[in-house]
Amino acid sequence: MAKKGYPLGIDVGGSGIKGAPVDLKKGEFTKSRLKIATPQPATPEAVAQVVDEIVDEFEKETGGSPIGVTVPAVVIRGTVLSAANIAPSWINTDAEALIKEHTGRSVTVLNDADAAGIAELHYGAAKGEHGLVILTTLGTGIGSALIHDGRLIPNSELGHLEIDGYDAEDRAASSVKDNEGLSWDEWIERLQRYYETIEALFSPDLIVVGGGVSRDSDKFLPKLRLRAPIVPAELRNKAGIIGAAHRAVDLAS
Ligand code: BGC
Repeated sequence: MAKKGYPLGIDVGGSGIKGAPVDLKKGEFTKSRLKIATPQPATPEAVAQVVDEIVDEFEKETGGSPIGVTVPAVVIRGTVLSAANIAPSWINTDAEALIKEHTGRSVTVLNDADAAGIAELHYGAAKGEHGLVILTTLGTGIGSALIHDGRLIPNSELGHLEIDGYDAEDRAASSVKDNEGLSWDEWIERLQRYYETIEALFSPDLIVVGGGVSRDSDKFLPKLRLRAPIVPAELRNKAGIIGAAHRAVDLAS
């Protein structure tokens, strides 16, 4: 089955590492995803071992095809350069080389929000959009993907914009809403400040909002006052896996 298998997408998150083979024609999983708890501490070596387990599990469906792996960090040519919400030992790790060593596969490692942006662009809320699309994920932190005329400008890190003296994700991530016990209205005020700053700096044509809380998008998106349309992501928690698999094939071909 080598080379004819489906590409595999793997999403490395704080609590789980999730993977599934992806049919890129449809933008769908070909088998239910496998989720394994993220090892603690989530060192590069420990995570690479779990990634290898997931690769083994889907060996039959994916054959020798490429794998795409997301991490919640800046990634340049396979090397991780930041660690806002992951173990500091990731910094300067050549994650592509490490995972390739473990799995023997062709590997692409990319930022988690960039992967989600790619997935929404091809199969979801930003499908067919021209101009500038900014996807943000609201979760433990805030991730972002900048896409212009269908091309990703990677590692935008708009969750770390400094706004009113704060790192934006420390005020407006959905984890902050939970941790500080903010009401929807209190959190919406912070989101308003965040998205109006994004809009002032980038003038996007469309803003897409992902992350688990986008399930409740009707509670907050309609209350934001912005020029650009702001819509919920459509692929939910599948976006990272699908976008990673898409990118892996794009870069391997
Ligand atoms: C990281 C980003 C990541 C985002 C969402 C931020 O803290 O700096 O790289 O995309 O969290 O996980």
